[in-house]
Amino acid sequence: MTPEHENIKSTVNGLALHGLAPNLAWTDSSDVSNDFRSDFFTKPTIDMLKAIAMASLGDGDMDEDPTTNSLQQYVADLMGHEASLLVMTGTMGNQVALRTALRSPPHSVLADYRGHIVSWEGGGVASVCGAIVTNVVPLNGHHLTLKDVKKHSTLTETVYDAPTRVISLENTLLGTILPLADIRAISTWARSQNPPIHMHLDGARLWEAAAAGACTLRDIGECFDSIQLCFTKGIGAPIGSIIVGSTAFITRAKWARKFLGGSIRASGVIAAPARVAIDEVFLGGKLQAAHKKARIASDLWEQLGGKLQRPTETNMVWFDLEASGLTSGQFYPVAATKFNLKIGEPVLGRVVVHYQITDDAFGRLCDFFRFVLCK
Ligand SMILES: Cc1ncc(COP(=O)(O)O)c(C=O)c1O
Repeated sequence: MTPEHENIKSTVNGLALHGLAPNLAWTDSSDVSNDFRSDFFTKPTIDMLKAIAMASLGDGDMDEDPTTNSLQQYVADLMGHEASLLVMTGTMGNQVALRTALRSPPHSVLADYRGHIVSWEGGGVASVCGAIVTNVVPLNGHHLTLKDVKKHSTLTETVYDAPTRVISLENTLLGTILPLADIRAISTWARSQNPPIHMHLDGARLWEAAAAGACTLRDIGECFDSIQLCFTKGIGAPIGSIIVGSTAFITRAKWARKFLGGSIRASGVIAAPARVAIDEVFLGGKLQAAHKKARIASDLWEQLGGKLQRPTETNMVWFDLEASGLTSGQFYPVAATKFNLKIGEPVLGRVVVHYQITDDAFGRLCDFFRFVLCK
């Protein structure tokens, strides 16, 4: 801990009232340095805490908070869109965007069957939007293409139909990249339909696709009518997501954010650290080092005879334990007890490398792979 950290810590310890232990977790990311469960197991940093201290405290619901307004304009500009809207979580961002894009039933949303909106958002598309989801298994086994989308879209409007009103893509999806050429082809086709089909992106981890060089944020901005980006995945902010779109779309989205309970009063405390996360982690180039570690771990796993479930393209390594001749019992408990690594729940079968994973913990991960595969 630096002297500056000590200083802040002792000041805050003076406030150790209100049932709070004298502790300043912001100064120390050591307890997530070995946490490979997900890239949301990061610790917000002292710079984020300082940004909170400097934030304006206007009313976000009334659009009166300068820190929030500035972040919203900043992200809209990064994406090449007109406007954006701060929300509490990625799930809220997707649901607000879908509710805004859809009008009244019957209607449907086309998505990859592995998408977050399909199986990880509590059935929100049905309950919040009254829509069915058309789950599509990509023909190429990797990502949706125009061929899949054309085959599974409902373009007719007879009494039997729930027409496809939204195509919801995800990038990255389970750590894999949706190629820009395929996104462009789908977008051009969707927009040429009558009525045009709304293009939504669950870009919770779009930062990773951009960091991998697969696209720029603006390339993606051009292809979608709404985009949800998470500040808590990979880039390490404590709270928050954002939806990007046209001014008209974002104006309408405020209505859905309101009824979902996501309108925020002193929203600057969320917006300020989110801005630090973008600038220091994403634009600061810290994601690439995590990708490099994931690549090394993935190559090592395969060199040792391990099998993967899917290719390693960003910060996630998906191993196939069964095909690698291992059982869960030979894997997860050993990682924890013998190598002091956190791997497993809430999602099994993967390690996720985030920017606060230390070289030391990464070295232990490699030793762990050698141990389980060389026995
Ligand atoms: C691809 C994707 N979209 C959306 C979300 C939802 O984010 P949140 O947990 O902030 O609701 C997640 C969460 O992990 C995710 O992985």
